Amino acid sequence: MQIAPPTPTPNILVSTSSHLLNTKLSLYSFLVRMDPIVATPISESSNITDFVITNRNGVKGLSEMGLKTLPKQYIQPVEERITVSNILPQESIPIIDMSNWDEQKVSESICDAAEKWGFFQIINHGVPIEVLENVKDATHRFFNLPAEEKRKFSKENSPSNSVRFGTSFSPEAEKALEWKDYLSMFYVSEEEAYALWPSACKDQVLEYMRGSEPVIQRLLEALMKRINVKEIDETKKSLLMGSKRINLNYYPICPNPELTVGIGRHSDVSTLTILLQDDIGGLYVRGNNDSWVHVPPISGSLVINVGDALQIMSNGRYKSIEHRVVANGSKNRISVPIFVNPRPDDMIGPFPEVLAGGEEALYKQVLYSNYVRHFFKKAHDGKKTIEFAKI
Ligand code: OGA
Ligand code: NI
Repeated sequence: MQIAPPTPTPNILVSTSSHLLNTKLSLYSFLVRMDPIVATPISESSNITDFVITNRNGVKGLSEMGLKTLPKQYIQPVEERITVSNILPQESIPIIDMSNWDEQKVSESICDAAEKWGFFQIINHGVPIEVLENVKDATHRFFNLPAEEKRKFSKENSPSNSVRFGTSFSPEAEKALEWKDYLSMFYVSEEEAYALWPSACKDQVLEYMRGSEPVIQRLLEALMKRINVKEIDETKKSLLMGSKRINLNYYPICPNPELTVGIGRHSDVSTLTILLQDDIGGLYVRGNNDSWVHVPPISGSLVINVGDALQIMSNGRYKSIEHRVVANGSKNRISVPIFVNPRPDDMIGPFPEVLAGGEEALYKQVLYSNYVRHFFKKAHDGKKTIEFAKI
């Protein structure tokens, strides 16, 4: 059964009671529609793009104006929307208890989950609950800053290329925009982070990154053993976890969630991703065929997924699985992924240990920064990024 979408209208309607509107009336008077039957001329809709993207008010700014219908820029083609018909409610990704992480059976479940699902949740992982709560609070604190404060970290203004406040994924390349704002921070060093990251969140984000470090190491050690990589030496360490990017994702309340996406179908370009989500839900993982499996929020858990870089290094043994996020009609959702990556100047390809038995390489050696550039240059398009590295 398909959820019947409300008739999409090309205009946007704004409640005149919104207090925010008064200050914006002169600039955005086109937004006010006393009579909802009057259609907005298409040309005016470019102001939405100006408001959200160019002027860096984000989707959050738009959402807070009390929109009644989704602007057409965000309307996804029917095939990209999530409908009840292709959700598998009875399926779930594995949940792994890491209390006894040094036991063989824990390692086995991690590797099995990474091979079969590419996605799993971990509980009792050792990152203190306060650290997780603090980083969620910090995320709300950052996004609740006035637009002019957040704008200081936009592409034009940011003190560094490694800190970026933005919206959607790749707005220049997208046919339909994604209903999401983000703050993305490429981790170079603690020093740089202290100097350049927003003070509203930097301490808590750094604590979360430090706290998750042992978890990342344990997961990678277990995964490497199964593919005959017995020791993670300095070269392997760089390839597996030489750099990190942390995102604070903000998915504001959406007037027509069924017509858009929070994040479109994609796989991550990381080796592993460690994702903290709040209690709202909305992340879906590709199951068999054309089905999608929800990742239910579990208090205190972390979601782990394999990214393209690990798929390439393991020659396809571990798979990066497509996932996406639905928009929510009643709640603002946040998530905090840490993307564990190779270093940008690393050449990545299948590990020699994996090919030692005569297995044919499925991927060539590629410069990781080229791979990442390829990913960001296009809209989210499912699993297509990895074709860049296919032989
Ligand atoms: C991502 C992602 C999922 C989520 O940022 O790459 O897939 O639940 N996020 O926010
Ligand atoms: Ni992702």
